[in-house]
Amino acid sequence: MSGASANPNQVLWEKGDFTRIAASMRQSGEELVRRIGVRAGLRVLDLGCGDGTTALPAASVGAEVLGVDIARNLVEAGNRRAAELGVSNCRFQQGDATNLEALPDRAFDVVVSIFGAMFAPRPFEVAKEMVRVTRPGGRIVMGNWIPNDPTLVAQILRISSAYTPPPPAGFVSPMTWGIEGDVLERFAGAGIPAERVSFVRDTFVFRFAGSPAQLLDEFRQYYGPTMNAFEAAERSGRAAELQAELERLFDDQNTSPGATTIPATFLRVEATR
Ligand SMILES: C[S@@+](CC[C@H](N)C(=O)[O-])C[C@H]1O[C@@H](n2cnc3c(N)ncnc32)[C@H](O)[C@@H]1O
Repeated sequence: MSGASANPNQVLWEKGDFTRIAASMRQSGEELVRRIGVRAGLRVLDLGCGDGTTALPAASVGAEVLGVDIARNLVEAGNRRAAELGVSNCRFQQGDATNLEALPDRAFDVVVSIFGAMFAPRPFEVAKEMVRVTRPGGRIVMGNWIPNDPTLVAQILRISSAYTPPPPAGFVSPMTWGIEGDVLERFAGAGIPAERVSFVRDTFVFRFAGSPAQLLDEFRQYYGPTMNAFEAAERSGRAAELQAELERLFDDQNTSPGATTIPATFLRVEATR
């Protein structure tokens, strides 16, 4: 994809290599799949699946899993991981959460989107698509970072935004998926009343064998949003300042001296169609 037709959402996530960050998320992904009650035989869509942090554990409990992601490199990485693990009940294909045209209505028992669909533009369209592909009585489970939360990811995004130019007019922050009122409004727009939507504050833990500064380095080199923040900070001569601010954050959040263990709070949303 290039030139005027490039989808900036896709460009952002194909930049770098999110698999490097996902490597620090595997254990929490597996634990989350157990908590949300994915079982053998369920048809599961993992939307914004990356390279399969939740899709592959869902398949390993016996669900029939389709992972959909806008980034072609992550779809390839997911299919590669599935092949390496010998998993035949999980496949990955490219698609856009704002328009899941390749997927039929009511096709899934559970639609999971962990820090995935929240990053798509046009949240009302995204809610409609998630509802459309869920069977009546089926569930949609989202994991969404929370704006102004004091833990890692919300703070990375908050700090980074101070170094990047303001977004274009009409841009809706992905973090608004972490605001309960906004989530209710989006599902209401897709025909799901508030009493069928519930919220839980949950924790996702980043685990990394190196130091917090080395984990930050992974973000700086491979995580699209952080790469963009550093590029902008370099243009304004403030990259060292951004580095120092983020290093302090990663250090402060780390709970295991000698390695890196960083718990981050997120909003778990469950909607029943
Ligand atoms: C923070 S990553 C999370 C990936 C994965 N769910 C995980 O937990 O490791 C966000 C993912 O959402 C995907 N994404 C962003 N916008 C999307 C869209 N419009 N449609 C589908 N996937 C999207 C990105 O490509 C990326 O893989």
